[in-house]
Amino acid sequence: MAFSLSGLMTEDLAIDLGTVHTFVAVRGRGIVINEPSVVAVDRSDGEVAGVGNEALELLGQNPEQVELYRPMEDGVITDFDLAAKMLGHYIRKARGGRSAFSRRVVLGVPSDITSVERYALFQAVQAAGANRAYLIDKGYLAALGADIITTSDERASMIVDVGGATTEIAAVTRSHLIGSRSIRKGGSDLDTAILEHIKRYHNLLIGNRTAERVKMELACALPISKVNSAALENTKIRGQSIVRSVPEMMTIIPSEIHNAIEPILREIINALRSFLEDLSPEVGGDIHGRGLTLTGGGSLLAKLDERIANELHLKVKTAKNPRESVVYGASAMFENPLLLRRFSRQSG
Ligand SMILES: Nc1ncnc2c1ncn2[C@@H]1O[C@H](COP(=O)(O)OP(=O)(O)OP(=O)(O)O)[C@@H](O)[C@H]1O
Ligand SMILES: [Mg+2]
Repeated sequence: MAFSLSGLMTEDLAIDLGTVHTFVAVRGRGIVINEPSVVAVDRSDGEVAGVGNEALELLGQNPEQVELYRPMEDGVITDFDLAAKMLGHYIRKARGGRSAFSRRVVLGVPSDITSVERYALFQAVQAAGANRAYLIDKGYLAALGADIITTSDERASMIVDVGGATTEIAAVTRSHLIGSRSIRKGGSDLDTAILEHIKRYHNLLIGNRTAERVKMELACALPISKVNSAALENTKIRGQSIVRSVPEMMTIIPSEIHNAIEPILREIINALRSFLEDLSPEVGGDIHGRGLTLTGGGSLLAKLDERIANELHLKVKTAKNPRESVVYGASAMFENPLLLRRFSRQSG
């Protein structure tokens, strides 16, 4: 017979369980889950009422009835029970009713994950029906998924994955993770900085979703004097006046949003600089020759690539599919049995 029985009976899942967004890919079928990492809990009985897009829909339909939770914060599980339920839901949905004899999962994790956090994730994956779980550094997976490490090349590359809550920095070759660092700052911290700024200087309370929209439409990593400001126009936002307790509209200008997010950007850039300073001369030389690649949703912030390039005197490019790089890299691990074996020794 021309087909492999073990292939039919084994199912391989690649998972990027992000703080903001979850992707699941099934080997042979590509990405099957692309949903927010949120869970709606029914206020009356404390049971999970919906996960991901469904949770947001429930909240829209009946905001009094459900409460929205994010089981991940700062890149790690903060509510184990809800995270396990969310993961279980996504794994069942990804399987689409198919049964498999054995199920392997590659899951991206922050590089500074503690053994307690690692154990919690192992348990969550196993509770969701996987026989084998490989927890692999997100930076390495992002590099693999962004296609910046090729088989014929053992020179070092640098990858920076700017997520919602974390920024993963890694120096990698095809077969090795040379070094990595995780800082607990990402796109959601920019939202919080915008929200706080508007509260403090405009006496206006806005929600997280409004803050995120302001970031996407108005925020820029370069000072406004250095960009074509015609592309960035003043924006009107709606919120709740703190002084008068009524809904109010206000005009926000791009330069104040740049100033509001600047401290977070500086923290990220300082972490990149110190990571580069700690590299060996050989690795540093490779990276100065090749530049670095940005992945993650946070890398879509306007002019972030130019800002990093200016400050670090490096070539910077953004991956083709920055949000999906980690899940693509996790999928690619299944095509590399040697790599998977090497990393499984490290995953414990
Ligand atoms: N066009 C855009 N401009 C600026 N930021 C963006 C854009 N699109 C997405 N983002 C931001 O990207 C962040 C989410 O990125 P991503 O999906 O990579 O995070 P995550 O993987 O869930 O988080 P983490 O890796 O930290 O656990 C959010 O803060 C979101 O606002
Ligand atoms: Mg991520």
